[in-house]
Amino acid sequence: MKYYIGADLGTSALKLLLCDEKKRIVRTVTKEYPVSYPRSGWSEQAPELWWNAFLIGLGELVDSICASDVAALAVAGQMHGLVVLDDKDEVIRPAILWNDGRTEKQTEYLNKTVGTDVLSEHTANIAFAGFTAPKLLWMRENEPENFKKIKKIMLPKDYITYRLTGAFVTDYSDASGMLLLDVKNKRWSDRMLDICKISEDMLPRLCESFKAVGTVRKEIAQMFGFSECVKVAAGAGDNAAAAVGMAAVGVGKCNISLGTSGTIFITDDKFSVDENNALHSFCHADGGYHLMGCILSAALCNKWFCDEILGEKDYASLQNDISQELLGENEVFFLPYLMGERSPINDTDATGLFIGMRPNTTQKEMLLAVLEGVAFAIRDNLEIAKKLGIRITESTVCGGGARSPLWMKILANVLNIKLLIPSVEEGPGYGGAILAAISSGEYGDIKDACADLLNIKETVIPDAVLSEKYENKYCKYKKIYPAVKELYKDLKGEEA
Ligand code: XUL
Repeated sequence: MKYYIGADLGTSALKLLLCDEKKRIVRTVTKEYPVSYPRSGWSEQAPELWWNAFLIGLGELVDSICASDVAALAVAGQMHGLVVLDDKDEVIRPAILWNDGRTEKQTEYLNKTVGTDVLSEHTANIAFAGFTAPKLLWMRENEPENFKKIKKIMLPKDYITYRLTGAFVTDYSDASGMLLLDVKNKRWSDRMLDICKISEDMLPRLCESFKAVGTVRKEIAQMFGFSECVKVAAGAGDNAAAAVGMAAVGVGKCNISLGTSGTIFITDDKFSVDENNALHSFCHADGGYHLMGCILSAALCNKWFCDEILGEKDYASLQNDISQELLGENEVFFLPYLMGERSPINDTDATGLFIGMRPNTTQKEMLLAVLEGVAFAIRDNLEIAKKLGIRITESTVCGGGARSPLWMKILANVLNIKLLIPSVEEGPGYGGAILAAISSGEYGDIKDACADLLNIKETVIPDAVLSEKYENKYCKYKKIYPAVKELYKDLKGEEA
C-alpha cells in the first residue's frame, strides 16, 4: 500500500489528511492554533505555530500505519500571507495574514498612483489589502529595519515546504495572490519587483503545483520513519487545492468554499481577466487558470455569532432550532464584513452590520440573517461572473459550511444554482494529497487523477418559491452597503 499526505495550513487550524493509492481517506488530524489580532483589522500568526502543529499532527497522522509506505506529501494553505526570513533563515516578524486590513494606504497607492491599469497589465489583478505586495510596501514604510533584513519572501505553505525539504519554491496558484506574478506569462513581474523594491532572488522558484520540488530532509524522515525518498510536491493555495480535491479542473467548473473565508472559484484552461478586476484572475493548480471572488468572513461570521454573541459552541443544534418556515421571511439583514471585505467591494473600512430588528426579533432570526448574509455576499460575486458572460448552473461546495444542510439550502436558493455536496468536505487537504500522488507518478495527469474523485453525497436543488423570495431579499440586501459605505469611512475616522 502506498500513502499520500495532504496538509491544509488553514487560518484556524492545520488539517492533515492521509489518503491511500485508491484515493480513500484513511485518517485526518486537526491541530488548532490562534490568530492574533494585535490591532483593529490586523491579523497575524507566528510561522513557528504552523511548524509545531505540522510536526505534532504528522506524528499522529502516521502513527497507525507503516510510515515507510508514505510516498509523497504536499502542502496547501492560506494564501497571500507575508512570511519573511533573514540571512540566518530566521522569521523576521509574525506573518501578516490574508485577511489583514492594515495596508489601506499602500493599497490605495498601488491602485491610484501606480494605477489599476498598470497593475492589471503586469499582474492581471489590482491591489487588495490582503495581497502580499501591499504588505511589503507597508513593512518598508512602517518597519524599515525589518524590511532591510529580508532575504527570503514566502507564502505560508511554502514556509512548511521549505523547512521540510530545504527547497525555496512556490507554485503558480499561490504566487498569483502576491500581486508580484505576471499571471498570464507565469513569471515574476519585474515592474512589481521594482515597485516593491525587492529583487528576484528574494522570491521562491516558481513551479506547477503537481511537480515534486524535493524530498523530505533526512532528519525529518528519520523522525517519522519515512523513507528518504518521500517526495514533496509544490502544493497550492488553499482554494486551488480545494478545487482539485473537488475535481474542479479543466474548463467551466465551479467550486464554492465556505471556510473562514468564502470563495467562488471558476476554472478555465485559458487565461482571462475581469476587466474591472473585481474577481481575481489567478493560475490554477491544474496548469490552467481560474477566476475567483473571495469574501473575507464566511464561516467566521457563524463562528463569531455563535461563540461570542450567543455563547454556544454547538452550531448544528442552534441551526436545528430555526424553522424552515422562516426561510425567505426573515426581516433581519446582516452584512458579513467582520474583517472588511475583499470581493467585489474592496473595502477595508466595512464592518459587520445588522439591520431590521424589532422588539420581537429573536436570536434565531439574527443567526439566520448571518447565514443569509454570507450567501448574499457570495451572490455578489456570482453576479460579477454573470456579467462576464459566465453561466454557472451548478457548483460543488467544500469547507466547514458544507456540513450545514440549512446553510446549503439557503445558498442554493440565494444563488439559484444546484449545489453538489461531496462526501469529502476537506477540499484543500484532499487536493494536496492528490497533487502529491501526481508528483510521485501515480497518475498520468491531473485530469486523470480527478476523473473518478467525486462522490456526491447530496444534491441541493433550488426551490422555485424559495429562490423567488430570496431574489427579493437579495434586491433589498444589495441596497444596504451603498447606503452605509460613507458612514464606514466616517466611523473609521473617529476611531483613528
Ligand atoms: C483567497 C483568500 C482566502 C485564504 C483563506 O484569496 O484570501 O481564501 O486563502 O485561507
